[in-house]
Amino acid sequence: MGAGRGAESSRLWANRAAVPAAKANPSTKIAIARGPAAHHRPIAGFLKNSFMQSTLPGQPHFHYLDKQLYAEGCALGTLAQEYGTPLFVYSKASMLSALAAYQRGFAGRDAQICYAMKANSTLAVLQVFAQAGCGFDIVSAGELARVQAAGGDMCKVIFSGVGKTRDEMRQALSAGIGCFNVESEAEMDVLNAVALEMHIRAPISIRVNPNVDPKTHPYISTGLKGNKFGIAHERTLAVYQHAATLAGLKIVGIDCHIGSQITEETPYLDATDRMLDLVQAIEACGIPIEHIDFGGGLGINYQGDAPPQADDLWAKLLAKLDARGYGQRKLMIEPGRSLVGNAGVCVTEVLYLKPGELKNFCIVDAAMNDLPRPAMYQAFHAIVPLDATPSAHAAMVCDVVGPVCESGDWIGRDRALQVGAGDLLAVMSAGAYCMSMASNYNSRGRAAEVLVEGNRATVVRAREGINSLFAHEALVA
Ligand SMILES: Cc1ncc(COP(=O)(O)O)c(C=O)c1O
Repeated sequence: MGAGRGAESSRLWANRAAVPAAKANPSTKIAIARGPAAHHRPIAGFLKNSFMQSTLPGQPHFHYLDKQLYAEGCALGTLAQEYGTPLFVYSKASMLSALAAYQRGFAGRDAQICYAMKANSTLAVLQVFAQAGCGFDIVSAGELARVQAAGGDMCKVIFSGVGKTRDEMRQALSAGIGCFNVESEAEMDVLNAVALEMHIRAPISIRVNPNVDPKTHPYISTGLKGNKFGIAHERTLAVYQHAATLAGLKIVGIDCHIGSQITEETPYLDATDRMLDLVQAIEACGIPIEHIDFGGGLGINYQGDAPPQADDLWAKLLAKLDARGYGQRKLMIEPGRSLVGNAGVCVTEVLYLKPGELKNFCIVDAAMNDLPRPAMYQAFHAIVPLDATPSAHAAMVCDVVGPVCESGDWIGRDRALQVGAGDLLAVMSAGAYCMSMASNYNSRGRAAEVLVEGNRATVVRAREGINSLFAHEALVA
């Protein structure tokens, strides 16, 4: 679910100006290189008219100091020199500050934040959230094993996803997870059978598909009738009544997740109303609902996006819950992107400039296998130089592309840059749905990852070596 609004295609996202500067720190502003749709526009005029003063995504944890880009107290240029490129760099303070907004929003409530680890499942990232008291939203046995390896609390794990296998159900039941978010009637029957075989009861909530439009990219809408996720709102009551008859299941909650990169409040408020209507109807049938899980989905600033702050959003949702008498219920949420998206960048080196008649290209050493969101969803990442001192290189409007043999291998389109071979760029907002979606396409090893805390940097994932790429393969004898 890595798409963001902020798609580059004008079909999906108008080429609009960034940025509400209200919350920006004015001393840390930088021009984000974002070109016009027409790359052949005269460069000088373009640069004068269209360079935008914009809030650098990831501020204040990513910021310029003496014209060098830093993650907290570490200069990204120094990290790149030491650990090579492409290199993902994460700020721990940024993650904790994003989490704090949710914690403030839930102060005084019985609430559990379950980090949706599909956004970034690197062990050290999980460790940050586990140590901060979070639970985890998982979607596979692999993610379950990662939570265990990172020291997560199994009681705080919820298991979502439309295709859980029997084996995955067994592993999760043996681990003692907190809840399965059941996504279909067929899955519910299988889970019941697996739990009965193990002589235990599986704690469940049913993921409701409330048919609410989250107003995001179609690939990351999940709560509409045409999506594969959840059980249709109209079927939900009957499914709860059936679940209550199954001896292998224990009903503990209700769940919904309507989509990702949501930048408006209304879809959340609408989904909440629909969920509460259901809770009322289910409990009227004598089936108690201990917790209500509102999913994740809150957006981040990629390109001047201004989603609600987590605490502001929750103030509104809690007012609604209070008004309807559910404010003291146990609440769960599953945020992913909003906790990590702007806590990471990918540092990449310019390999070659390739001017062309119709297009100029800036070829960098990161590619769609490292940063799949643009190729998958035409998503936008701001791309900025690590060194912001005036450059001797000619300004040009270019597509920033990787070495992978696909025309779809682009990271940014029509960007205004003043760079030369060997210069370093930062692809911003790369903390979510980048490394967790990275692949080995074109037999490229995955990038290294560094976690920064103040001026301390730790390599939390070594660069993937060439030999490991075919370690599990065999030649035919
Ligand atoms: C069930 C579920 N919960 C939570 C999330 C996290 O969403 P986000 O990263 O947008 O917060 C997702 C993402 O697709 C999801 O499918």
